[in-house]
Amino acid sequence: MRALRFAVYGLIALWALASLYVFVWIRERYGRGGPIPVSQAGMLLHPLRGWLQPVRPVLDKFGLRPGATVLELGPGPGYFSVEAARIVGPEGRIVCLDLQPGMLQMLAGRLGEASVRNACPLAGDATRLPLAAASVDAAFLVTVLGEIPDRPQALAELRRVLKPGGVLSFSESLTDPDYVFQASLRDLCRAMGFRELSCSGERLGYTMTFAAA
Ligand SMILES: C[S@@+](CC[C@H](N)C(=O)[O-])C[C@H]1O[C@@H](n2cnc3c(N)ncnc32)[C@H](O)[C@@H]1O
Repeated sequence: MRALRFAVYGLIALWALASLYVFVWIRERYGRGGPIPVSQAGMLLHPLRGWLQPVRPVLDKFGLRPGATVLELGPGPGYFSVEAARIVGPEGRIVCLDLQPGMLQMLAGRLGEASVRNACPLAGDATRLPLAAASVDAAFLVTVLGEIPDRPQALAELRRVLKPGGVLSFSESLTDPDYVFQASLRDLCRAMGFRELSCSGERLGYTMTFAAA
């Protein structure tokens, strides 16, 4: 009986904490628009994220190949970057382009700790990519597109920098306040000349891949 009461109180406390966490997150984000503040970047590296969006299984859906040059748009503090760099290997390269220098600093620290040398943090805006046309084999965005106000322009830029047939991947999670619904993403990418390759569900989210025509 005592154990049951203890378990119930524990669950209530957990529920209250989780609600508070969600409330603070939403309140912080509400009305601001634009990118997640660097002060909240730690949430992107939270151990529980491994259950919702496990790094390797998500990256495996992006079709990254050894030797490829890959653009990771909006890497934040680099939750996916280290493993992506391992997948493309020493002959490949991950260009990690983010709007916020603070995120890039955290990312650089993480890459340094993991002794990753084939990933380069680069400051820039998704709507004006500082990359040459047809210069990347693949690009991916995880919970990034919803933070970009001019999404058609970002898609046009991604199309420009991808090689013909290059793969563009998105992964979205419902835990992100800027979640992009599957139907919106599909419509937008089709309108911008991408062809859908795959769509698969995850815990509270999905991954979609497209080919640049
Ligand atoms: C929610 S975080 C996701 C970070 C990482 N992809 C992950 O899943 O852990 C979104 C990231 O996109 C970046 N971002 C937002 N708008 C951007 C833009 N217009 N151009 C480049 N990066 C942008 C933010 O600075 C932030 O680091």
